[in-house]
Amino acid sequence: MKLKNTEILNNFRSPAFPGSFFLSFEGIEGAGKSTQIISAKDYLESQGFRVLILREPGGTPFGEKLRQAILNSKTELEPISEAYLFASSRAQLLTEVTLKELNTPGTVIIYDRYIDSSIAYQGIARGLGIDTVLNMHNVFPLNLIPHKTFYLKISTETSLGRQRVRNAPKDYFESRGKDFYENLIAGYDMSCELFPERISIIDGNQSLELVFEDIKEELNKLIFKKDEQ
Ligand code: TYD
Repeated sequence: MKLKNTEILNNFRSPAFPGSFFLSFEGIEGAGKSTQIISAKDYLESQGFRVLILREPGGTPFGEKLRQAILNSKTELEPISEAYLFASSRAQLLTEVTLKELNTPGTVIIYDRYIDSSIAYQGIARGLGIDTVLNMHNVFPLNLIPHKTFYLKISTETSLGRQRVRNAPKDYFESRGKDFYENLIAGYDMSCELFPERISIIDGNQSLELVFEDIKEELNKLIFKKDEQ
């Protein structure tokens, strides 16, 4: 995959707050993000960290309104409209909560979805293009990226199978077909190519316990500088 402007990648950086960390979890529907986020929180708290979980879109009063506007939308929005709505929610969450909280040493902020969702969903699955998504984020505070992102990778079949078992009502993005999921997976693969150091690809088709073992290993490397290899 070719970006029109690869220089832009140098403008993305992780916030530098001594002793604090910024993490995100990504994956398609049914990847198991929520469960793994809770396990990561429990583990990090047991190690003495203060952990906050934030969700995107949402997390601030304004962001929650945007969340309802997007996910309950009865009309199909323009991909660029979607992208700006998600980016607006993200910018508010960064300044109103994330940057303030990270200022307290020993804090870990865990995002349930972040920029890689915009790359996969708006950039690829909705066809906006990755350059457009990255350009939109090429301004403070949107150019802040996590220290580590866990991409829980599952196949379309696993996703659709888990959705059938859950049988929950479907929102704006969840009512789409198999091709949409295939495109999302391709989009996430591209994100992994663009940010190979930040993103750890975790095999989400494994049991919950094994998935968390992989996550824990990466957390130990990042936070405790422990290498179990
Ligand atoms: P949510 O109910 O939080 O989904 P999930 O439980 O799968 O995380 O809804 C968020 C939806 O918004 C999800 O379908 C992904 C989508 N999304 C984007 O399209 N772009 C984005 O930048 C973000 C953050 C989310």
